[in-house]
Amino acid sequence: MRIDVVTIFPEYLEPLNVSLVGKARARGLLDVRVHDLRSWTHDRHHTVDDTPYGGGPGMVMKPEPWGEALDEVTASATPERQPVLVVPTPAGRPFDQALAVELSQAPWLVFTPARYEGIDRRVVEEYAQRFDVREVSIGDYVLAGGEAPVLVMVEAVARLLPGVLGNAESHRDDSFAAGPMAHLLEGPIYTKPPQWRDRGIPEVLLSGHHGRIARWRRDQALARTAANRPDLIARCDPASLDDHDRAE
Ligand code: ADE
Repeated sequence: MRIDVVTIFPEYLEPLNVSLVGKARARGLLDVRVHDLRSWTHDRHHTVDDTPYGGGPGMVMKPEPWGEALDEVTASATPERQPVLVVPTPAGRPFDQALAVELSQAPWLVFTPARYEGIDRRVVEEYAQRFDVREVSIGDYVLAGGEAPVLVMVEAVARLLPGVLGNAESHRDDSFAAGPMAHLLEGPIYTKPPQWRDRGIPEVLLSGHHGRIARWRRDQALARTAANRPDLIARCDPASLDDHDRAE
């Protein structure tokens, strides 16, 4: 997968050199290119913002640098190989695991993290005529810019790419993954030593009884989801709740 990020803070994206994403890049599974938006400005001050039409607080990102940047970054698009443009904004559709899965299937993502109050609307309109453009929010809070959301989304997408995670099954049981645990949060997990301070681990995990362990894990997931995310329980497919679940 190719990923382009256009930003006025290229250094903010340095964590993309580290850990899972960094390793995926080093192994050639991910081609990440970070671009400085200011290199598409032409004035002495490299201006990227201006005051909003209609008044109001804050500044708005000018359309011209974004237009030049996106034209150049997407110049190699072909009908067979189209980028998906991802525009981080608190006004976007909520980012979730389903969207991460969908984006992980695209060959090419272009992220446009904004600063200030956002980007002149005409930029989204212009590129929506050419490409699939997604305005995406990572949550109901307002950050100072879209760079942190890009880090979040790239990590969520990258770990779904074939070959990136060591164990092909390691995201099968993820909270929010499809399958038997759909809409449930993962329950608690334990490792050695079997005794830490005065705390042991649940007996069932030592039993070697796979059926009982799976049953216990699902009970724990249900209890945790009911406590932390009752909205997710409400979205559970009733057919996925067996008789034991209903008794809870
Ligand atoms: N930019 C500022 N806040 C944001 C959010 N919550 N999600 C995506 N982009 C943002």
